[in-house]
Amino acid sequence: MGTQESNEGLNGTGPGRRALLGAAVLGAGGAVLGVPATARADEKHGGGGYKSLPKPTIIGHRGASGYRPEHTLGSYQLALDMGAHVIEAGDLVPTKDGHLVCRHEPEIGGTTDVSAHPEFASRKTTKLLDGVSTTGWFTEDFTLAELKTLRAKERIPANRPHNTLYDGRWEIPTFEEVLRWREEQSRKRGKQVWIYPELKHPTYFRKLGLGLEERVAKVLRRNGLDKKNSPVIVQSFEPTSIQRLNKLIGNPLVVLLSAANTRPWDFVETGDPRTVADLVKPAGLKEMASYAQGIGPTLDLIILKDASGNLTTPTTLVRDAHAEGLILHPYTMRNENPFLPTNFRKGTDVDGYGDPFGAFRTYFATGIDGVFTDNPDTGILAREDFLKR
Ligand code: G3P
Ligand code: CA
Repeated sequence: MGTQESNEGLNGTGPGRRALLGAAVLGAGGAVLGVPATARADEKHGGGGYKSLPKPTIIGHRGASGYRPEHTLGSYQLALDMGAHVIEAGDLVPTKDGHLVCRHEPEIGGTTDVSAHPEFASRKTTKLLDGVSTTGWFTEDFTLAELKTLRAKERIPANRPHNTLYDGRWEIPTFEEVLRWREEQSRKRGKQVWIYPELKHPTYFRKLGLGLEERVAKVLRRNGLDKKNSPVIVQSFEPTSIQRLNKLIGNPLVVLLSAANTRPWDFVETGDPRTVADLVKPAGLKEMASYAQGIGPTLDLIILKDASGNLTTPTTLVRDAHAEGLILHPYTMRNENPFLPTNFRKGTDVDGYGDPFGAFRTYFATGIDGVFTDNPDTGILAREDFLKR
């Protein structure tokens, strides 16, 4: 299911001890600030398309969410300034009046200050979201104008106490605003900025009359970003959503894959009995390759862990997916101990950093094409180390 974060780890309660790496790091990967060259107005393609992206590709997960509240323009900007090759901007959910906004989930109690708005107290409710009872406030119950009165906040303050410094600073961005930001940054840098939006819970929203695929296609088309070589990769946990997108737009498409024993929610709704374990077999990969250019597996599908959470041996997924012509962009690398494999942790502080460089090195060695990370600066340095080896 799209809500699952297989390596999310523990929310801890320990005191903060480690300073975050941060905003001072400016990057490789095209962060050429102040360069007057302009991206040609008619050239909305990303050079040679997704195959021309640097490998391994460093993808800023929800921006630079290790350092800023996720899915804010502040988070996206920092990821770009740190040198991320592609920015996951954003996870897309709709408003009541049909606009696309950037939130990881439709429920926004944990990532905004909505609970501090008495005028919205009565909107708090419980819904079944992809089979999971979920209580809070949902984007589909708010107009865009209402959502714009809210401010973003840090989702996991126990792990990222420093990020709370920025609580209240940024609005919830719309997808249209993201595309304007992308255009402006491309112009400023003289090269196309790549983004990697994800459609969240497409089946859930379609049943509410808020189909996502057509809306995303329309916005991309209107901005001239719906072509094979456009600098926009589109992802979803629901294979049927990617199939639908394949008929609407030319962009590179990626099927996200959660834990092996799970079923994509669209499969649950349509009665398709297959699990992710089936999809990663050669027949499943071949089928996905008929409508997608890549897969985004959880890291645990790349290297198995033992019962203690230590990395063991790589699976054959990289080889098998490449054999079908699919690229692999697994998720999600994070610097804090609880999110790292046990053998790359240092101490037990939940807001302390372990050895992400060791973990990056191990995952890069499997031949993955890129990785989503909350810490793009760390990812860029790890990539440089890897390429020098
Ligand atoms: O999109 C890749 C990765 O973001 C998938 O996980 O749950 O963080 O959207 P999630
Ligand atoms: Ca995502």
